[in-house]
Amino acid sequence: MELIESPLFGRNVFDMRTFCVVTGASKGYGKCIVDHFCKLLAAGSAMVLIARSESLLLDVKNQLEAVRSEILVDIKATDLSKGDEDTFKGILLNSLKNIGKAVEDFDQAVIVHNAASMGDITKKMTEIGSSGNIRKYFDLNVTSVISLNHEFFKLFNRKTVKQVVVINVTSICAIQPFKTWSLYCSGKACRDMLFRTMAIEEPDIRVLNWAPGPLDTDMQVLARSQTGDTDLKVMFEDMHNTGNLLPCEVSVKKLVELLQENTWDTGSHIDFYDI
Ligand SMILES: NC(=O)c1ccc[n+]([C@@H]2O[C@H](COP(=O)([O-])OP(=O)(O)OC[C@H]3O[C@@H](n4cnc5c(N)ncnc54)[C@H](OP(=O)(O)O)[C@@H]3O)[C@@H](O)[C@H]2O)c1
Repeated sequence: MELIESPLFGRNVFDMRTFCVVTGASKGYGKCIVDHFCKLLAAGSAMVLIARSESLLLDVKNQLEAVRSEILVDIKATDLSKGDEDTFKGILLNSLKNIGKAVEDFDQAVIVHNAASMGDITKKMTEIGSSGNIRKYFDLNVTSVISLNHEFFKLFNRKTVKQVVVINVTSICAIQPFKTWSLYCSGKACRDMLFRTMAIEEPDIRVLNWAPGPLDTDMQVLARSQTGDTDLKVMFEDMHNTGNLLPCEVSVKKLVELLQENTWDTGSHIDFYDI
């Protein structure tokens, strides 16, 4: 198969006027991503921050605007697991309206699919029975990602901007099973394969499955307090107690370096510890 690379392959992603959407931007890794991106993106760029907590998003917006007023910031408090294509289309169109810009005002579009949940990590796969909870997990971690990505791509594609970059925040759990984490591992594996597929279907856009490493966030608090498998739970407790979790900043800096170089193989799964 002939690979038609993005014409901007190798060019620093942050050099372009960018429309950037980040899900799960209210705290943890997503907040750290927007903090760093805001400092680096070209003037005239815009960032759309999505999560459920309006008050946390507002705090993030105020902090970003205090750091760099030339980056336009819009927030949308929404439960992604409940959204459909109309919701996501509305979020994107309203954001453009709120910041007073049109698609043509940007050279590049970046979407970071970062929001996620762990699902039930207390039980073995054979013990998980509640179809309502299973659906809720996949609605957030898979369905909303496909649907939001679809609406984003309808507006921002290689006919409307020079470069499109899609970042899926993934995990080692996408490629390795962990006992009692069957929902989380399968959700992450599914997302990786979705974006690997997208990468070969759309070879002229840039797709990255980025595994950020074990992060010191609220998700890790859940991992060490709720994991059903004793050995795994102890491993996460030890990582925390011995200071072996990564500060989000350390991981985001490596992601930023990848985006500045912009030479990764599109669709690949790259782990913090790979580079
Ligand atoms: N922490 C780790 O060790 C680790 C390791 C590898 C990969 N990752 C991945 O890194 C990403 C970020 O994780 P994190 O550690 O920063 O997690 P976190 O601290 O739990 O943050 C999750 C973010 O997602 C948002 N979110 C959760 N449910 C949502 C929903 N239904 N609708 C909209 N937004 C929702 C949260 O905001 P609201 O609560 O305001 O909605 C929050 O901003 C995830 O994809 C995770 O799988 C994490």
